[in-house]
Amino acid sequence: MTTRILSTSPLVGRSLQDLGQRYPDLCIAPYRSVAWRMELAKAEAMIVLLSEPVREQDLEMAPNLKAIGTYSVGVNHLPIKKCEELGIAIINTPGVLTDATADLALTLLLAATRRVAEGEALVRSGKWKGWAPDQLLGIGLAGKVCGILGSGAIGKAFARRVWALGMKPVFWDRDGKNHPVDFGPSIGRRMPLKEMLPQCAVLSLHCPLTDETRGILDRKMLSLLPQGTVIINTARGNIMDESAVLEKLHSGYLGGVGLDVYDGEPEVNPAWFTAPNAVLLPHLGSATRETREAMARLLCEGIEKALGTH
Ligand code: DGY
Repeated sequence: MTTRILSTSPLVGRSLQDLGQRYPDLCIAPYRSVAWRMELAKAEAMIVLLSEPVREQDLEMAPNLKAIGTYSVGVNHLPIKKCEELGIAIINTPGVLTDATADLALTLLLAATRRVAEGEALVRSGKWKGWAPDQLLGIGLAGKVCGILGSGAIGKAFARRVWALGMKPVFWDRDGKNHPVDFGPSIGRRMPLKEMLPQCAVLSLHCPLTDETRGILDRKMLSLLPQGTVIINTARGNIMDESAVLEKLHSGYLGGVGLDVYDGEPEVNPAWFTAPNAVLLPHLGSATRETREAMARLLCEGIEKALGTH
């Protein structure tokens, strides 16, 4: 009996090719192409990227589907409830991208607080006139509070990094129980959002996008942040109200913003391009070779397990 696996794209490393050795019917067809739609009708498993939403109607076209794999830890682009109803397994890639994503959040934090992009542009422009006492002054981090939305693996990994810089990590998460968070070298307080926000010199987003977290950083919540706060988002764009953040950044209220994700990406609101002290990256959180290979490995193993044929 043949087992059909449909992937929208090759993955980094050999894992997908190796899977194709064991399942010769594995097919790669671009997302929403004619070939993809035709293969979907026969597929027992499909693999998509985080930028490729699967809709409930797609499942109606896939009567044999047993598993959907996403080359990401985030599953907000998948019809989770419908999959549960239909007994379709969802495979994602938790754990293996924790350090890479936390590293990138730290990169954004340091770049935004030390005005790295502006400094680099100045040197490249050939117009740098030399050291000056007040040139491109940034924001110091030691001793300040870093608010972290989400106390999962990535939130804790980010906490370890900012703790090493002398910051005090505090947490908010969805479970609402305010017990402390052990992030390894130390323990951070977990507190209600309204209590946490007024203390934050830095606020970093590390929670999944769910119905509960969509837009949670709205205009009202953002107004609780102290002047000069730096916001880092490596989670999902629409956890925060981008236009409200943009207003606060353009008005000079926020100290800076570091973004790896955008509401409606890959479209990016052009107001970000002219925003002062915004560091903008193209969703690179998990983009190291080691991490992307590990994600592919985990995903392919999960698909094979869900198919239960080996
Ligand atoms: C994921 O895998 O969901 C992350 O957004 C990668 O950066």
